[in-house]
Amino acid sequence: MSTPIIAPSILSADFARLDREIEAVSDADWIHVDVMDGHFVPNLSFGVPVMAAVAKVTDKPLDVHLMIEEPEKWVDGYVEAGAAGVTFHVEASPDPIALARKLREAGVKAGISVRPGTPIEPWLEHLNELDLVLVMSVEPGFGGQSFMPEQLEKVRVLRNQIDLRGLGTIIEIDGGIASGTIADAAEAGCDAFVAGSAVYGAEVPNDAVNELRALAVEGQLRAEESRG
Ligand code: DX5
Ligand code: ZN
Repeated sequence: MSTPIIAPSILSADFARLDREIEAVSDADWIHVDVMDGHFVPNLSFGVPVMAAVAKVTDKPLDVHLMIEEPEKWVDGYVEAGAAGVTFHVEASPDPIALARKLREAGVKAGISVRPGTPIEPWLEHLNELDLVLVMSVEPGFGGQSFMPEQLEKVRVLRNQIDLRGLGTIIEIDGGIASGTIADAAEAGCDAFVAGSAVYGAEVPNDAVNELRALAVEGQLRAEESRG
């Protein structure tokens, strides 16, 4: 059992003050960077120039989540701008495993993500080629939506496979993660937790980061107890 990874999403931060907003989460493990193109999702956020600016003001790993069409065309820019990991959607790529291989070769963590309606089963046999699987627990596109608890079934399936095969693939969850939901996600087997509104909507964002991590540890302990 490893310490839960807390990844605040700057989608919920004040874009005019990203340097201060990143400083405000000094205890975060990663910074989650939500890239939206207005096509794959009905919202537009920012692209490589903003991510490159963020990379200049933090040493924390940048966890890039591409919610865009044709990720093959765009990943190089994020790699060059300093991403620690790049996660793209399987629904947007004709050959996700080829793209994951390309990302690994470029020296970054390779991640795939699935929308709530997309099954995870076709990707299980490829887990050895993936550093990260991002399970969406809301429809991608916007922060501040309600957590979809039924998505935790995918997390349980992934946890089981990863443990059975002794793999190191990270299970990340994104959408509606807050004090009332994070322990259940941790109990189901998540390793990394994206939180936008729960962190940046808090009075003291860094306190929210630490509170979320503590609640995730409680969830991990519950899982350990039930395994006996
Ligand atoms: C949604 C994004 C999320 C979003 C999460 O499409 O991928 O990362 O910022 O926001 P909250 O934590 O508010 O649900
Ligand atoms: Zn995201």
